[in-house]
Amino acid sequence: MPTYIVLLGPPGAGKGTQAEIISETLQLVHISSGDIFRENLKKQTELGKLAQGFMNRGELVPDDVTIGMIAERLRRPDCANGALLDGFPRTPAQANALAEMLAGWKARVQCVPYIYVPAQVLIERLSGRWTCRAQGHIYHEKFNPPVTAGICDDDGSELYQREDDKPATVENRIRVYLEQTSPLIEYYRNQGLLAEVDGTLPINQVTELLMAAIQKGQ
Ligand code: AP5
Repeated sequence: MPTYIVLLGPPGAGKGTQAEIISETLQLVHISSGDIFRENLKKQTELGKLAQGFMNRGELVPDDVTIGMIAERLRRPDCANGALLDGFPRTPAQANALAEMLAGWKARVQCVPYIYVPAQVLIERLSGRWTCRAQGHIYHEKFNPPVTAGICDDDGSELYQREDDKPATVENRIRVYLEQTSPLIEYYRNQGLLAEVDGTLPINQVTELLMAAIQKGQ
């Protein structure tokens, strides 16, 4: 039976940081909806051009577009054993679409770790985040700095600050999260799938808690 895990949490909670580590440990494909949009933006595809305005304003890309994109990604052969989903689903409509899709394959979401972090901490995290241009590796100038400032430890590529990490956009992303995504906390709690993890702890401790929650949920 393939394994599907959904990482839930506000912008800057550490979903991408943890997904990078956990996907390697579990040998599970990491699917980040934000990374797929950014990749399309870089290549200036139609999807990238469509997503750009929503992303720059800190709004969600429309459900039908996002659901179609993730459905296509999950159908690829490298997802035969399942996937670690980061940033999807983000609305009840997306969560229902995912459940239907998986039911069609006689599968389901096994566990939803919810990384909780207060808003004040999120702003500090996002304003100090640096991302690798080649593969999206994530750093923080204070909490997780690269060995050489501006250069990715893993692949030597340039680090950049995301356009949507500007203060005004961050505020909007947090507001949008509270309005449109936070209902998923109850949605998954009601299904007995939610595992709450304190995301304010150091990165390695958050990883340990997440791994324990995932092993319990499987
Ligand atoms: P997306 O890229 O998914 O952004 P997000 O969910 O807002 O999450 P982030 O990537 O900002 O944060 P994160 O939780 O991954 O934190 P990270 O690990 O980087 O989405 C971007 C946009 O795309 C959306 O706004 C929307 O427009 C669109 N989109 C994407 N998915 C969509 C969907 N499903 N539907 C519609 N639209 C969609 O960590 C943050 C920083 O903190 C880093 O610097 C890191 O080093 C540091 N850090 C991490 N953990 C710790 C720790 N424990 N202690 C100290 N520092 C830490």
